[in-house]
Amino acid sequence: MNTIRVHLPGSPTGPDPDRSYLIRCGSGLLDSLGPLLRDSGGRRGVVVADAAVAETHAARVVASLQAAGIEAVSLTVPSGEASKSVGALGRLWAEFARLAVDRHTRVMAVGGGVVGDLAGFAAATFSRGLPVWQVPTTLVAQVDSAIGGKTGINLPAGKNLVGAFWQPAGVVSDIDTLSTLPDREFVSGLAEVVKYGVILDAEFFAWLEDHAAAILAREPAAVGHAVERSAALKARVVEQDERETTGLRAALNYGHTFAHAYETAAGYGVLLHGEAVAIGMARAARLAERCGRISCDLVARQDRLLERFRLPVAAPESLRDAERLIEIMGRDKKTLDGQLRFVLPSKLGHVDLVDGIRPEAVKDVLQG
Ligand SMILES: NC(=O)c1ccc[n+]([C@@H]2O[C@H](COP(=O)([O-])OP(=O)(O)OC[C@H]3O[C@@H](n4cnc5c(N)ncnc54)[C@H](O)[C@@H]3O)[C@@H](O)[C@H]2O)c1
Ligand SMILES: [Zn+2]
Repeated sequence: MNTIRVHLPGSPTGPDPDRSYLIRCGSGLLDSLGPLLRDSGGRRGVVVADAAVAETHAARVVASLQAAGIEAVSLTVPSGEASKSVGALGRLWAEFARLAVDRHTRVMAVGGGVVGDLAGFAAATFSRGLPVWQVPTTLVAQVDSAIGGKTGINLPAGKNLVGAFWQPAGVVSDIDTLSTLPDREFVSGLAEVVKYGVILDAEFFAWLEDHAAAILAREPAAVGHAVERSAALKARVVEQDERETTGLRAALNYGHTFAHAYETAAGYGVLLHGEAVAIGMARAARLAERCGRISCDLVARQDRLLERFRLPVAAPESLRDAERLIEIMGRDKKTLDGQLRFVLPSKLGHVDLVDGIRPEAVKDVLQG
């Protein structure tokens, strides 16, 4: 097992002087949750589980809590983005009230980003805040959503419109849980892994090139390192820009302005998020090349790695209407005064937020 500490200062006047926490990565970690929770002062655990893992991974968590003498209750949330809703949140609140959940209770979010965001937000808001443990079971959640404290739900008007920053008490990423993840979900998560290499760590990018086959074959050592390094890179960004105020956290949005436009244009659920991110990164790299920031070699090198991971680098024909995509991007909250801004690389391992990009340049890369 490896641990990564996320250093976060507490508010000096708040009840909790240090909000730092550990991310534990490795094999066989679900069974350690009971002792971990007991040592953190928990007397009861409410396990909020994605239905797809309720009988398997979440049941292991419940068993571990019980073996450690901790009372455990299990709540199941239907799989899928539709559970990040006001209705599902209300049902969790009602269950928490029925169970008389209090400060000695620990909420455990066992599932992917959907359950992490939903249960995290329920914990952030119930009784003005309960400790939550993130126990991610998808690659996306282990390398991204479980780390950093963004929680929330969707509204019909848009994704993630209601939420809160609520840092977990701890993150336990057991890579064994990924063995049941469908291939398409696993590969989709690899897009975010590649993203970390491009935006922050050229050496990690090269390591991914060397170990692509082992990662695709889900060899534990390779998957473990990919998860761990990605988590450490995300943790470093979160430490330096917890609430996305200095601009540093914006680097994590590399490829995402394009991706969100593709997801909206296609209708949610057609492209998986990571697939849209892969196409988005491929477009962003081309835009960076057009702006004279990087060479065509780097564009090709990123394409090659994404393709080795069986990720798309070009949008399907039906998603090449540049006017429409630019119009959607204009509504993206990351645009400033109607100007298009993008996170673009200047070399492998470094990106900047670039303003004032000409719409014609964007149009060209969208049509290519
Ligand atoms: N909070 C953040 O910082 C942040 C960052 C990125 C994404 N997100 C959010 O995360 C969500 C996407 O996360 P996701 O990709 O994990 O999606 P998800 O939670 O919907 O999980 C994907 C699918 O895998 C299933 N599943 C989960 N674990 C499994 C396992 N071990 N074995 C078999 N099936 C399993 C789920 O039932 C679901 O069908 C989105 O809502 C997105 O907005 C949040
Ligand atoms: Zn993403």
